[in-house]
Order: sequence, then C-alpha cells, then structure tokens
Amino acid sequence: MTRILGKGRLVAATHNKGKVKELKDLFEPAGLEVVSAIDLDLPEPEETELTFAGNALIKARAAAKATGEPALSDDSGLEVTALGGMPGVHTAIWAGEPRDFYKAMEKVESLLQDIDATDRSARFVSTLAVVWPDGHEEVFEGTVEGDLVWPPRGDKGFGYDPVFIAKGETETFGEMDPKKKHAMSHRADAFAKLKAALLS
Ligand code: IMP
Repeated sequence: MTRILGKGRLVAATHNKGKVKELKDLFEPAGLEVVSAIDLDLPEPEETELTFAGNALIKARAAAKATGEPALSDDSGLEVTALGGMPGVHTAIWAGEPRDFYKAMEKVESLLQDIDATDRSARFVSTLAVVWPDGHEEVFEGTVEGDLVWPPRGDKGFGYDPVFIAKGETETFGEMDPKKKHAMSHRADAFAKLKAALLS
C-alpha cells in the first residue's frame, strides 16, 4: 500500500548542490524540511545499478539507514535519441573526475557530429525514490523532452542545462529563470506524480 509522507524532515540523499536546490524548491512548499546529505556529511554510495530507479534506491536506502529518517533521492540523466539513450545512467560519469560538464557536453556533441546526426532530440529523466527507515519504498519517474543545441548557452542551471532546450521553448535550461525550469523539469514531472501519491 502507498504510504503518505508526513510533514517534517526529509533527507535529500544527494551531494549535488543543483539538485538539492531544485528538491528544496519542490518539497518545501509542501511543508517538508529538506536536509541534504551534504549538510549531514553522509557518505556517497557507489551507483552500481543499470537503471535510474535502481541507483535512486541505492542512495535513498543508504541515507535512510544512516539517519533513521525518511530519505529522498533523485537519480537522473540525459538520454540522447540518436545515441541510443546514452549517456543515460552514466550522465554524471561522462563529466569525469573532478566533474567538468563542459567536457561532458562536448563529448555528446562530438558523438552527434561523428554520426552526422540530424535528430538532436533528447530527454532528461528523473527518478525520485523515497525510502523509510523501516524499509518501505516508493519510486516515481518523470521526463522532459527537448533538443540539444551547440554551443552551450547560459549559466543559470547545472550539468547539461546549457545545451538543452525543452520542446516549445527558445531558451536553454541554462538561460531560463530557475523558477520556470523547476516548474517544467523532469524532476517537477516526477514530483507531481509523487505529490499525487504521497502528499495528498
Ligand atoms: P546522478 O543522478 O547523480 O547520477 O547524476 C545525474 C547527472 O545528470 C547530473 O550530474 C547532471 O549532469 C545530469 N542532470 C540531471 N538533472 C539535470 C538537470 O536538471 N539539468 C542538467 N543536468 C542534469
């Protein structure tokens, strides 16, 4: 049975500051206090699964276990149609270590140019997982469809935002007012599903 998420503290099981900001914007108006894995100095578990849901569950399970509180995680990525869905679950890793997202965007672009791709469509996917300390789990997936541009534009977002234009828009997510992005993003889509199920 679906479980209602009561008001109170929710541990955001992520070390990505851009995601923390977006998750706060989404969950705090619903009366939840979002505390991040960065604030709590939690270790970052290795993401060893081949699906967004699998990796989201690894992160939320680890945070719920470490804190004894309900934990929320987002596993997300970019799926490029002409690249057969790559980089997908490897979206963060393509930026290398330390993370360099310009390099990652350049890698996507050079692969598209190598195959003379005319189809530049792509989607961001976000899977939100909520895990309670007693082991109960809920998972929701959201997407936003769009196209990739080159060169990158805008510095308002994070990750691959500067090369992604959502369908029907003219600005990249990097140029867009964050409030507007947060209302239409893959994370917002997953959140709407979560809200309907767990927060109503
Ligand atoms: P992970 O979920 O931590 O494995 O990483 C997902 C990666 O996807 C992030 O590091 C970002 O590069 C990228 N990503 C996820 N969501 C967004 C977004 O909203 N904008 C831009 N890049 C994103």
